[in-house]
Amino acid sequence: MERKSEQENSIRLQKFLAERGVASRRGAEQMIAQGRVQVNGKIVTDMGVKIVPTEDRILIDGAPPPSLPRLRYILLHKPVGYICSVRDEKGRRTVMDLVPTAQRLYPVGRLDYDTSGLLLLTNDGSLTNALLHPSGQVEKTYWAEVSPAPDASRLQRLRQGVYLSDGMTAPARARIIKRMSDGAVVELMIHEGRNRQVRRMMEAINCPVRRLKRVAMACLTLEDLPLGQWRELSRQEVERLLLYVGQAATKRR
Ligand code: URA
Repeated sequence: MERKSEQENSIRLQKFLAERGVASRRGAEQMIAQGRVQVNGKIVTDMGVKIVPTEDRILIDGAPPPSLPRLRYILLHKPVGYICSVRDEKGRRTVMDLVPTAQRLYPVGRLDYDTSGLLLLTNDGSLTNALLHPSGQVEKTYWAEVSPAPDASRLQRLRQGVYLSDGMTAPARARIIKRMSDGAVVELMIHEGRNRQVRRMMEAINCPVRRLKRVAMACLTLEDLPLGQWRELSRQEVERLLLYVGQAATKRR
C-alpha cells in the first residue's frame, strides 16, 4: 500500500479516519482492529499501515468515508456535573449535551466530573494530538480552592515536584491568589496531564481540593465566557494556537 514516490503524501490509516471525522484516533484504531476498514478491497487490521488518500480506496463498514469536514474549534466553560466524553455508559450528562452540533467533535483531554473550566472541543485530530502529547509543553492553569491554605514550604514542594503513585510530578508554578478564613485559592500551572493530577498534588501536600477550575490552556483563556456557555474560537485564536503547538497555520476552515 505504501509506494515510494507517494511516501510524503501517505498518512497512517487511523489518522486518516480521525481526520475524516469517523472517530477519534483511538476509536479509529479500534475500528481497524475490529476488521471494519478495507484498503483497496482488503481488510486491514495492522496499525502500521499507511495510505495515500488520493490513491487508495478506503471503505468503512463497506462504505466510503465522508469527505473532509470543516475544522471546528469550540471553547466551552464546563460546569461541574458533566463528564468529558462523547457518551457515557452510565447515562450521565456529557459535555456534548452543552454543545449541540451536527458535527462530530471531541474534547481535548479531560476535566473531572467535579471540575469546571476551560475545555476545548474540536475535530482537528492533529491539533488534539499536539496538545495532548506527553512531550508537549502545553501549559494548563488551574485555580484550586484548598483547605487548609498551604504554607510557604508546601508551595515550594509543588514548585519542586511532589511524589505521586505514578511518579514525581514535573516542577509546577504555584502561588496563592486568594486567602479565606479556612483555606486559600492556589493558582497552579502544570504541563503534565495525569489523571486527577491537581487534586492528587494538593493531597500530597495535605491541602485537599474543595473546588477546582481550569482557567487557561496553552494560549487560550476563559475570560468572561459564562459557565455552561461556549463559543467558536476566532480565526486569530486558532492561528495562535497552531503556532503555539508548532503547526503551520495552513489548515482548511
Ligand atoms: N487535575 C485534576 O485533579 N482534575 C482535573 O479535572 C484536571 C486536572
